Amino acid sequence: MDKTAEVFVIDDRDAGIFRVNRRVFTDPECLERERRRVFDKCWIYAGHESEVPHAGDFQSRNVAGRPMILARGDDGKVRVLLNTCTHRGALVCRQKSGNAKTFQCPYHAWTYNSRGQLIGVPGEDSYSPAFKRDEFALAQPAQVDNYRGFIFVCFDPATESLYDYLAGAKEYLDLVADQSELGMKVVAGVQAYSARANWKLLVENSYDGYHGLPTHQRYFGFLSDIGVDMRGNNGNNIASPHRQQTVDLGNGHAVLEYQSAWGRPIAHWVPSFGEHRKAHFEELRRRFEERFGAERAYRICETSRNLGIFPNLVINDIMAITIRAFYPVAPDYMEVNAWALAPMDESAEDSALRLDNFLTFLGPGGFATPDDVEMLESCQRGFANREVGWSDISRGMKREKPSLTDELQMRAFWRRWNQLMTEPQTARARRAA
Ligand code: FES
Ligand code: FE
Repeated sequence: MDKTAEVFVIDDRDAGIFRVNRRVFTDPECLERERRRVFDKCWIYAGHESEVPHAGDFQSRNVAGRPMILARGDDGKVRVLLNTCTHRGALVCRQKSGNAKTFQCPYHAWTYNSRGQLIGVPGEDSYSPAFKRDEFALAQPAQVDNYRGFIFVCFDPATESLYDYLAGAKEYLDLVADQSELGMKVVAGVQAYSARANWKLLVENSYDGYHGLPTHQRYFGFLSDIGVDMRGNNGNNIASPHRQQTVDLGNGHAVLEYQSAWGRPIAHWVPSFGEHRKAHFEELRRRFEERFGAERAYRICETSRNLGIFPNLVINDIMAITIRAFYPVAPDYMEVNAWALAPMDESAEDSALRLDNFLTFLGPGGFATPDDVEMLESCQRGFANREVGWSDISRGMKREKPSLTDELQMRAFWRRWNQLMTEPQTARARRAA
């Protein structure tokens, strides 16, 4: 990027002006800088501990542009192993998931155990005495930590602890993790899709309350057709719910929280779930009240949350819970993974409701995601008009209490992003870059 283009964000709080330079969505140099300054420095979501419940279980996936293995060792410990053979580089694990005592590299057959230690080298006697197996274990990220089952990695040893990094987002992860006494589990399978759009457009979209009605008209029409009361079953209007808040959670994280008109399989009954299930939902709700008191039970059961954890993790706790993580492949192309999260002890009938919601609204073939992807790709195509250099993110900026359809949450993201992208680098970081 040339010097003039290095203004990525205009943030004039007095005037209420907030603009983002559209080159940040199209410029390959900007993406390179993001890789170093954002993805190599922040805590990045790698997976959920429930995905590897037994010793030897593994999941291989790409995280922050790197192939990795989420593996539970024979000692019961969950590790993140970098999926590259320490001999000459090949992937040592080429399956998506499974259970294995060892990972054997297909190239020259070096073998690692489930803890990542090198345990077999064909023809080892050909190496000099300087060859030490210990030095060839599979590498691991500089930091790995877990908050209530959510596992994150960080490639910078100097970055603050995960606990501090998550800042105010912990409260909202708790509202998800508390949905079961036995813990939460990722339902097997993943929705994997891609979009011809910059990854930050999906950040904005994931908690954009402004686009709901125009972009998802078809879905709201469908809800109305199947008999959902669009004023909500509590006098709550789907377009402007009460008990709503938009919160800047610090460190670039933000959340929308609102009372939703739709049903939530956790414990918010709506007529479309069927009269016969009402008592069951009342019982679930009673148990939450017993555990947490009326106010917290209400929040867990009846409010929905769109939570963005900087930079690229979104947890939508709405009519189902979706964990969504996405990565740039190119400035105008991203890959998205979405998993459904559910209580360990959920009944088969509740689980069916949840998964139906997961597919119907949120899935890549559902009512929402195709419309969203279409809009993001449309923005990306529009950026070809380089004469129009800036996007506007100022909605609600001068309002004392921004509403759900304002853009405070996006400004929280962009301010943190801009800080990381422009802050002076230490000599060490400059050398590494
Ligand atoms: Fe893996 Fe040679 S690259 S054994
Ligand atoms: Fe949407």
